[in-house]
Amino acid sequence: MTAPRDRRAVAAGYDAGADGYDARHADRRGAARARAIDRVLLDATRGAARVLEIGVGTGRLLAQVAAPTRVGVDVAARMLAHARARGLAVVQADGHALPIASASVDAVIAGKGALRYLDPAVALPEIARVLRPGGALAAHLYPRRTLTWRAAAPPPPELWQPADTAALVATLVGAGFVVERIVRLRSVRWWPYALAIPAWVDARTPVPLWSHAAVVARRP
Ligand SMILES: C[S@@+](CC[C@H](N)C(=O)[O-])C[C@H]1O[C@@H](n2cnc3c(N)ncnc32)[C@H](O)[C@@H]1O
Repeated sequence: MTAPRDRRAVAAGYDAGADGYDARHADRRGAARARAIDRVLLDATRGAARVLEIGVGTGRLLAQVAAPTRVGVDVAARMLAHARARGLAVVQADGHALPIASASVDAVIAGKGALRYLDPAVALPEIARVLRPGGALAAHLYPRRTLTWRAAAPPPPELWQPADTAALVATLVGAGFVVERIVRLRSVRWWPYALAIPAWVDARTPVPLWSHAAVVARRP
């Protein structure tokens, strides 16, 4: 689990980069990949009245949610300042201890891998607590490693980046969620910049080909 000290470091890192954050992710490739991933998360919020985003950042994703009640939480104050400037209701809070009433939310979203900073053993029960029965969790996650030509340094072990689809599903099911949809995408350098990896291909590769997963799971 990420220690509170490290959480402060994560917040400080995002605070330091907050002012240029949206611009840095607005290049053609980054924007195309974000659209492909965000679409899955936004679809999961359709018809929801109350949507919460954990790790809302500058609010670029939550601002696209159509729900009448939208709330975001984040540990980084400067990221939240940008979200507030968009007119969003946001609170500075840690996703491990949400200042939200039990069973009060129809959907929880987490864009751009925000959940990787959270310990799923703590965060998933907390998300289940705030979701109403039947409510949806829709999150973007990165894998621990993806098939590459060159060996890449592994991410720090405290980050929640599942080894593969089975590990992702096992963690969600272990926390009592029912997995409804997984869209796996691989970043590529050429248009359309993100290729869908079908489940049957994924099932035959020992190391994930995908570099992004958008997962939708439901609280029974
Ligand atoms: C990569 S940004 C994603 C921002 C936004 N979800 C998006 O899609 O653009 C990750 C965000 O998660 C936040 N974060 C990291 N750890 C957190 C925690 N324990 N609780 C709440 N937010 C956290 C960071 O401060 C940062 O704003």
